[in-house]
Amino acid sequence: MLQLILSLIAISGIGALLALFLEIADSYIADYGESHILINNEKDLVVEGGSPLLSSLMENEIFIPSACGGKGTCSLCKLRVLAGGGPVLPTETPYLSKEELENDVRLSCQVKVRNDLKIEIPEELFKIKEFRVSIEKVIDLTDDIKSIQLKILTNEEGISFKPGQYVQLKVPKYEMTRESEYRAYSVASSSEASRDLELLITKVADGAVSTYVHDYMKEGEELTINGPYGEFYLQESDKDILLIATGSGLAPLLSILHQIEREKIGRKTTLFFGARTVKDLLYYDEVKDFETRLPDFTFMPTLSRPTEEDRWQGEKGRVTNLIEKYIPENAPLEVYICGSIVMVESCEDLLKKKGISEENIFYDKFE
Ligand SMILES: Cc1cc2nc3c(=O)[nH]c(=O)nc-3n(C[C@H](O)[C@H](O)[C@H](O)COP(=O)(O)OP(=O)(O)OC[C@H]3O[C@@H](n4cnc5c(N)ncnc54)[C@H](O)[C@@H]3O)c2cc1C
Ligand code: FES
Repeated sequence: MLQLILSLIAISGIGALLALFLEIADSYIADYGESHILINNEKDLVVEGGSPLLSSLMENEIFIPSACGGKGTCSLCKLRVLAGGGPVLPTETPYLSKEELENDVRLSCQVKVRNDLKIEIPEELFKIKEFRVSIEKVIDLTDDIKSIQLKILTNEEGISFKPGQYVQLKVPKYEMTRESEYRAYSVASSSEASRDLELLITKVADGAVSTYVHDYMKEGEELTINGPYGEFYLQESDKDILLIATGSGLAPLLSILHQIEREKIGRKTTLFFGARTVKDLLYYDEVKDFETRLPDFTFMPTLSRPTEEDRWQGEKGRVTNLIEKYIPENAPLEVYICGSIVMVESCEDLLKKKGISEENIFYDKFE
């Protein structure tokens, strides 16, 4: 048995090495020359062949949502490639439905520009811009979450975004990475102060961008962001609002709370926020204060592992316990959930079992 496992590891190791070798050889030896990318039958881009379609577009200031930075794991970079894209790769198929495959939808980070291409890009993506920013302030909110306050330098009006949307932060190559990397971070600040943005960033073990932010980034440093992106924002309706978050998932919900206050939205709003202990309750006082400023807002934090020193008298357990306990069957709610995949999916399953339909559940998954 052990021998079989060792052989399998050896075979997959050789396969991975061979793939890496072919990739490196391809990038050094192959010369694809110039290629044309015809966009929406209108715009003709001339690019140097050999790079992924996603980065070729970005180099020409066409920004496609790509929260994972082109690693092929977020599936947000989908575009229609009508000609020249070559066969669909095994790295794409898990993310493409049968209908998408029939409609020539591809992951633009996986399609390499080897010849002329014909593609389609939704018009709204042309509004996404790149901005130079300075890091004004870095504050420790908890042991593993920092608040990063940015100022946009390159544009007087700043960035126009809907509360709930995210930007992509690009950090330079450093000792943990082979090239500059970017990832998605939701905007926590109010959309009024659009030259000043706040992001809340959790440190992920061995994570390329979050480690840079936590251990290398300095106040005064200049970086680049692009955006805004995403469809996670308050819908126009008169339904009650349920907000659910854990950790830095609070970021877009803070921005939405500022919007509810600024626009005097009178809808009954509840926030379920899950943390481990009292010291993980970031922005507790600030969120609690919304109860005095909004006409009908309730903040319900819950702790999954309160310590004795916490002397916690509030709700205990995970945010899913609060759904079980407080959300009645078929409640007329619109729900906005943000945080880890596991948390979002558990909440979604439970809400559906309670009769809340898919159209009334909105989320951003942070992995
Ligand atoms: C729409 C959207 C909005 C987001 N907003 C925020 C935000 O406001 N604040 C924030 O902190 N993050 C946010 N994220 C997550 C963020 O984009 C990065 O995925 C995260 O910072 C990890 O990036 P990294 O480069 O440090 O790790 P990577 O180098 O990408 O990953 C390193 C390893 O960690 C694993 N991993 C990646 N992400 C996580 C995670 N969240 N938890 C546990 N393991 C992980 C990976 O599978 C990999 O094995 C958001 C993601 C999306 C899709
Ligand atoms: S950029 Fe994330 S899958 Fe393509």
